Amino acid sequence: MSPLLIALRRFVLVVLVLLLLAAVAVVVRSAQVRGRTWEGVVAATWPGVVPSDAASVAEGARLARVLGCADCHGERLQGRALPEALPFAEVIAPNLTRVVPGYGDPELVRLLRHGVRRNGTGVFVMPATAFFHLSDADVGLVLAYLRRLPREEGHEQATSFTPRAHAAIAAGRLRPVPDAMDHGATRVDPGTPDDTEARGRYLAHVACSECHGTSFEGGMAGKAPPLAIAQTYTDEGFRHLMRTGETPGRRDLFVMDDTARARFAHFTDAEIQALLTFLRTLGR
Ligand code: HEC
Ligand code: HEC
Repeated sequence: MSPLLIALRRFVLVVLVLLLLAAVAVVVRSAQVRGRTWEGVVAATWPGVVPSDAASVAEGARLARVLGCADCHGERLQGRALPEALPFAEVIAPNLTRVVPGYGDPELVRLLRHGVRRNGTGVFVMPATAFFHLSDADVGLVLAYLRRLPREEGHEQATSFTPRAHAAIAAGRLRPVPDAMDHGATRVDPGTPDDTEARGRYLAHVACSECHGTSFEGGMAGKAPPLAIAQTYTDEGFRHLMRTGETPGRRDLFVMDDTARARFAHFTDAEIQALLTFLRTLGR
């Protein structure tokens, strides 16, 4: 064999070995990131009580709609795939009717507010950054509803990642939700029905910040506009958007329309008015 050919063979071999090492490093790093636990960061404690009266269960069911549980986890919370949620991953919002019974109340509250699973690892996609602000009372209502869910057949797979997603996780470009939030932040004041601006600020944090950004500055890589855009709406036009997903000029929306119909149609009129009152203070 000519010396040139031998050198070439060595070169190809070295490149192959390096590629293999890089692939192993990516897989190991991705497993490390996904396996990180937040046990020491956020304890599963919750001083609240889960109510069990029919009115609380019904109010919890309404809140769960507003918060999008059924929008992501399916009409009966039986689980569903979210094909648009992340590039290079098959994201599954799991069957809550099977998962929730395995969680204690404090663990469930930690999952909602901090994105930390029962085993301490972090979830992807699940909007804990928004739900962080849920008041003890509202968390209790949601739990009241979740505890009454009848068991359903549904989606039993878990989220799976392609090699490109593992590379993004290894590089820190795709992070578990609890890795990208401040667990010691101050919860927003839930307000009272009489204090419309505070009530609206609270509702915007728990229901809108998932897509429009934690300071309502816009989000989803520019797809969701800053929420100050609500100031271009009349009271009636804003209520119509929340209830039907239609803008005044019947402009085509691609996410907000379905989101409003699935989630915000379940707001009360007073909540919609409170939201608008708060959104009108943005940027002032
Ligand atoms: C934007 C979509 C979205 C919304 C809204 C959402 N979830 Fe999730 N949820 C997910 C996804 C996706 C996962 C799985 C994350 C993963 O695989 O890493 C998840 C995971 C969970 C889990 C953990 C299951 C487990 O495997 O241990 C629970 C419990 C849960 N969600 C409850 C809720 C409740 C209750 C609500 C409403 C208050 C809600 N979710 C709203 C997308 C969502
Ligand atoms: C699941 C993501 C998501 C959530 C949650 C969400 N939005 Fe949006 N919103 C969008 C996107 C994306 C757009 C850009 C229009 C479109 O493409 O749908 C938008 C557009 C809007 C617009 C502008 C419509 C127009 O005139 O062009 C308003 C107003 C609005 N959202 C209000 C809200 C309010 C208020 C909340 C909370 C109660 C909320 N949104 C929650 C994704 C979301």
